Amino acid sequence: MKIAVLKEEAEGERRVAATPETIRKLIALGATVSVEAGAGQSASIVDEDYRAAGAEIGERTAILPGAAIILCVQGPDPAILQDAAPGAVLIGTLNPIGERARVDAYAATGVEALAMEWMPRITRAQSMDILSSQSNLAGYKAVLDAAAEYGRVFPMMMTAAGTVTAARVFVMGVGVAGLQAIATARRLGAVVSATDVRSATREQIESLGAKAIFVDDVQGIEGEGAGGYATEMSEDYKARQAELVSAHIAKQDIVITTALIPGKPAPRLITDAQIATMRPGSVIVDLAVEQGGNVEGSELGQIVERHGVRIVGHRNVPSRLAADASALYARNLYNFIAAFWDAEGKHLSLPADDEIVAGTRVTQNGKVVNSRLA
Ligand code: NAI
Repeated sequence: MKIAVLKEEAEGERRVAATPETIRKLIALGATVSVEAGAGQSASIVDEDYRAAGAEIGERTAILPGAAIILCVQGPDPAILQDAAPGAVLIGTLNPIGERARVDAYAATGVEALAMEWMPRITRAQSMDILSSQSNLAGYKAVLDAAAEYGRVFPMMMTAAGTVTAARVFVMGVGVAGLQAIATARRLGAVVSATDVRSATREQIESLGAKAIFVDDVQGIEGEGAGGYATEMSEDYKARQAELVSAHIAKQDIVITTALIPGKPAPRLITDAQIATMRPGSVIVDLAVEQGGNVEGSELGQIVERHGVRIVGHRNVPSRLAADASALYARNLYNFIAAFWDAEGKHLSLPADDEIVAGTRVTQNGKVVNSRLA
């Protein structure tokens, strides 16, 4: 049973879907692994490392024929899959709603595609959860990106030349990325506060040593919908949140926004008028910029300046930490394969009635099959 690992084609994508560590483990399961030449280069893994782990290296046209599983970070151009066997299982981050035409094309080539970002958020799937592993790194990197743009220091410093005050960091949206942003900013010595619509996050914020900033005088808000995700809030709530943020934001040096609502554009949390109240030299990092942005004026792939405040909108933040992001992503994929591995037959066995399979499978037998795409 052969597993092929693709070199990423998308612009700015530096990650790779397998590492020497996961390749050793896949071989230990009884698979053979073929890696496209140069696949790991931008994640600091050379072909020789893959070879030493037991993989074969080859051009794409050589590694795809006969592969039963194809691993990728971003979904490849469907045209390249013509070299793959019908029924080959494609595993990656496929963006099925945004790239719907691609999903249809995967079905047409007979490939069985699994969108790993649709992994259900259940305990059994935690080790396979690519959104968590990548968001965690994005939260960390967002703070470092802010620090790099900020013309002042994060920790309080007492020097012979006088005292420098600590930076004030405000994190908006306290999911996986936000929690790591709080922890990272605290480690750098900043004074940190944070907000979320889910009241369950209050305790998490406080346990990391940050101050919780919450709307708590609006009736009937819990902010928590299906699967632990946020829901869209009432108009009353949004108005109160805007007031609260306006009062708070003017006193902040750094703001990191991470707020997302599944299946909806990112909620707008910061207006241009609010940015104008911040001190010149302040920095905002909008981690939601790829989903439309939490910050008015943030631009995808750009650092822009408004009212003397820098707004950072980097694309694909996990890819900016390509080596560690690949290591975690590759383990997520390995954990998925290992969980559904038929040890006797030495192949992948994906029962349709399994919650994880049903959640992630988007094409099978020439058809688009996922209920979220119906
Ligand atoms: P996300 O990336 O969908 O959203 C980020 C954060 O933004 C969330 O905390 C959300 O509540 C917040 N948000 C949304 N609208 C907002 C607004 N208007 N103002 C302020 N904040 C707003 O969330 P993520 O990081 O994917 O985590 C969602 C939940 O899933 C969390 O409870 C997390 O603990 C849970 N989770 C569970 C896993 C499991 O059980 N396997 C794995 C990973 C996460």
